[in-house]
Amino acid sequence: MRVTVTVNGEERIADDVWEGESLLYVLRERLGLPGAKNACEQGECGSCTVYLDGVPVCACLVAAGQAESRTVVTVEGLASDEGLHPVQQAFVECGAVQCGFCTPGLIVQTHALLAASEGVPSDLEIREALAGNLCRCTGYEKILDAVRQAAGRADG
Ligand code: FES
Ligand code: FES
Repeated sequence: MRVTVTVNGEERIADDVWEGESLLYVLRERLGLPGAKNACEQGECGSCTVYLDGVPVCACLVAAGQAESRTVVTVEGLASDEGLHPVQQAFVECGAVQCGFCTPGLIVQTHALLAASEGVPSDLEIREALAGNLCRCTGYEKILDAVRQAAGRADG
């Protein structure tokens, strides 16, 4: 089947999509957007997080057909011509990236947290928001530092 999706502001078409194919597969393998990572393919790790119509979802759990005529934003889409998004920049500056497998999902989820937050989120709010994003490398402290920095917290 053919799937037409607006991805990062651009209409994209994927042909010959199998009915069981995930949105993650289409993004990575058909549309040349490898930012969202495939770590578990079971909705457990959050490494494949993208926005679907403005809501963060695990792209591995979304059938490609469900994304028909909808809007997707991936980690690639958060950057602009001016450079990295401040959340992306904070992850780099705080050393919150090791192997990087979890990073795209954490960045999208952090972006969503900060967009929805009234004021600056507490550590508890950050931990709750990122609870579905697993990292096997960093021990999470640098990730928390990056989120605090992106949120503009004085202790970030
Ligand atoms: S790859 Fe989708 S949640 Fe792990
Ligand atoms: S940096 Fe390796 S899983 Fe998080």
